[in-house]
Amino acid sequence: MINISKIRSQFPILAEHVHGKPLIYLDNAATTQKPLRVLDCSRQYYESINSNIHRGIHHLSQLATEAHEQARETLAAFVGATSPEEFVFTSGCTMGLNMIASILGRVGFLAPGDEIILSISEHHSNIVPWQMLCERTGAIIKVIPLDAEQTWDMGQFSQLLSSKTKIVSLAYVANGTGTINPIRQAISQAKAQHKNIITIVDAAQAVGHLPVNVQQLGCDFLVFSGHKIYAPTGIGGLWGKKELLEYLPPWMGGGEMISEVTFEKTTYNALPFKYEAGTPNIEGAIAMAEAVRFINSIGLREIELHEKTLVRHAIDRLHELPLVHIPGRDDCHGAAISLIVQGVHHYDLGALLDQMGIAVRTGHHCCQPLMAALGVTGTTRLSFAVYNTLDEVDQTVGAIQKAISMLV
Ligand code: ALA
Repeated sequence: MINISKIRSQFPILAEHVHGKPLIYLDNAATTQKPLRVLDCSRQYYESINSNIHRGIHHLSQLATEAHEQARETLAAFVGATSPEEFVFTSGCTMGLNMIASILGRVGFLAPGDEIILSISEHHSNIVPWQMLCERTGAIIKVIPLDAEQTWDMGQFSQLLSSKTKIVSLAYVANGTGTINPIRQAISQAKAQHKNIITIVDAAQAVGHLPVNVQQLGCDFLVFSGHKIYAPTGIGGLWGKKELLEYLPPWMGGGEMISEVTFEKTTYNALPFKYEAGTPNIEGAIAMAEAVRFINSIGLREIELHEKTLVRHAIDRLHELPLVHIPGRDDCHGAAISLIVQGVHHYDLGALLDQMGIAVRTGHHCCQPLMAALGVTGTTRLSFAVYNTLDEVDQTVGAIQKAISMLV
C-alpha cells in the first residue's frame, strides 16, 4: 500500500486553492505536478554545478557532465535499454517522433506507395510528422479504425499489414480516451509480417503509469516526455535500437553531434551524441532522473495498482450518472478516462468543474481524428497520478453530477 499523505506532502501545489476551493488536479495526462525532490534537484543543479557539458576542462563542467550522463544511465535502465548509448535526450515526445520521421525519410527507406500504419486514436504528434514525411516521399498512411467497443480493431490491423508496410507507429496508451492499446500484439504482428518493418511506440501516457520495457515490447523506437512523469517540461527521451541509431543519419547539425568538421567533410560523433546537437537541457535531464528515482521509490507496480483503483472507482461511480458515456472498454484504461455527456458541451462541464476547484482537460486532446470517430468535437478528460485519492474521485463525481444538473 502506498502512503498517499506522505506522497502528497511532496507536492506543495496540491495544497493550493482554486476559486476558493481546494485544488483537485485531474489533468495529469497533460502534465503532472512536480515533487519537491525534483524541484530541489533543479535548483541545486543551478546553485552548485551549472556549466556546459562535454566541453570544459574545468571542474564544474566535469561535474555537470557526470550528472548528465548518470541521468542518461538512470533513464536508459528505466525503459530497459541495453545500454545508455541507445538513449537520446529530446525535448519530449513531439521532438522524438519528428526526429524519427525525419531521419527515416533521409535514407531512402520509403518509396512512393509504401505504407505507414497509424491508429485513429493517435495524438497529432504521431500523425502530422508522418504526413509531412509522406509529402516528401510519396508514402501513404493507413489507419487502424475503432471497433464497436471503441478500441483498436485488430482484425483490421491484420488486414492493413502487407508487403508495402514499412513503418508502424502507435501509442501505448491513447491520450484521448486513456485506453491501454494491445501494443505488444501490434508489434509482434508487424514483425511477423516482416522483421524490417520499423515499429515505434509513443509511450507518453504509459511511462510512469505502468512498467514499460523496450525489450519486452520488442519495438525499434520508443519516445516519452519528462513532464508527464513528474519532471520539468522541455525534456524527454527517445530510445532506439543501437543498430538503427548507428545506421541512421543525424537529425539536427551543430556542436556536440560532430567528430570532426572541415568544409570538405564532417564526421559525426558516437552514439548517442550524434543525435544531440547543441547545448542540451542539462538541468531537465538531471531532474528527469530524479523524477525516475521518485517513481522507483514508490514502485511502478504500486503506482499502477493505485491509479487502476482510482480509475475503476471513477468508472463505477460515473456509470451511475445516466447521461455519461465513457469511450473505450472499462477494463482497458490506463490512468485516464474521457467523458461524453449527452446534451452537455465538454467546455461547459470543464468550466463548471474549474469553478469547483477541479482541473480537467476539455476539447479534442490533440486527437481530432479520434474525436471525429467518436462523433464528438471533444470530451472532458479526467487523468490521474500517484497523488490522487479516492476521496478526490468521489468529490469529482459529485461535482460532475451537480454540473450536469445545472447544464441539462
Ligand atoms: N498530450 C497532452 C495531453 O494529452 C498535452 O493532454
